[in-house]
Amino acid sequence: MSAGAERTSQITMSTVLAGYGLTKKYGPTSALAGVDVEVAERQSLAIMGPSGSGKSTLLHTLAGIIRPDGGQVLLRGERIDVLGENRLSALRRKRFGFVFQFGQLLPELPAEENVALPLMLEGIPRRKAVARARRWFAPLGLAGLEQRRPGQLSGGQAQRVAIARALAVEPDVVFADEPTGALDQATGTEVIRLLTSVTREQGASLVMVTHDADVAAHCDRVLHVRDGRISSHSQYTVA
Ligand SMILES: Nc1ncnc2c1ncn2[C@@H]1O[C@H](COP(=O)(O)OP(=O)(O)OP(=O)(O)O)[C@@H](O)[C@H]1O
Ligand SMILES: [Mg+2]
Repeated sequence: MSAGAERTSQITMSTVLAGYGLTKKYGPTSALAGVDVEVAERQSLAIMGPSGSGKSTLLHTLAGIIRPDGGQVLLRGERIDVLGENRLSALRRKRFGFVFQFGQLLPELPAEENVALPLMLEGIPRRKAVARARRWFAPLGLAGLEQRRPGQLSGGQAQRVAIARALAVEPDVVFADEPTGALDQATGTEVIRLLTSVTREQGASLVMVTHDADVAAHCDRVLHVRDGRISSHSQYTVA
């Protein structure tokens, strides 16, 4: 699909997150060389491309972790790239969820407290936060594992706990950078199936970096990045 067609198709859908004219340089390296991207409500977007092409830089820029040198990032029409660090980190905690390659769970806390942690950071009392956190365990196939510590979980279970933690705050957008990078094929497929379906059911959009075309195929759209630019774009029709 051409860039023109992409723009037309987006007009009828409400855009949750957008980046326009994004540039980012590290010394002589252009990690982002002018990227435009829009993510619609409940839509999942996969970002693919060779190592060093700028995928993580793009994801972190859209997520307000990296500030672009040029261009704009908008969340529901409001620029977030110009916010001060305190407001930006509060916005990241409330409106975004994150899943990384290695779940980055706190090893000393039971699974349910790992999921409850973002809620407690928002000021929700511990008991209430844990009660809300527990609701995510059954939909993610984790019932009965609430008290386990991360070291007592398989890689796939730990990633599903990380997904629960990302969704617990009921974010607008979930960001995932190589969420299946450390898992075998079958486990990875199950994790992606849950990540895409539960995120959609929850009403959030998903932006995911992956090297794996089978993983990307679970998303509504795939963006290919090369040398900091979008090299191609495809749209799937997901029922
Ligand atoms: N903090 C940094 N300092 C210097 N250069 C950086 C930094 N972060 C990224 N880069 C460079 O910017 C380019 C894009 O990096 P990025 O991490 O976005 O790539 P990627 O597509 O995510 O790669 P991979 O698939 O290996 O994770 C690379 O050339 C990288 O070396
Ligand atoms: Mg990367």
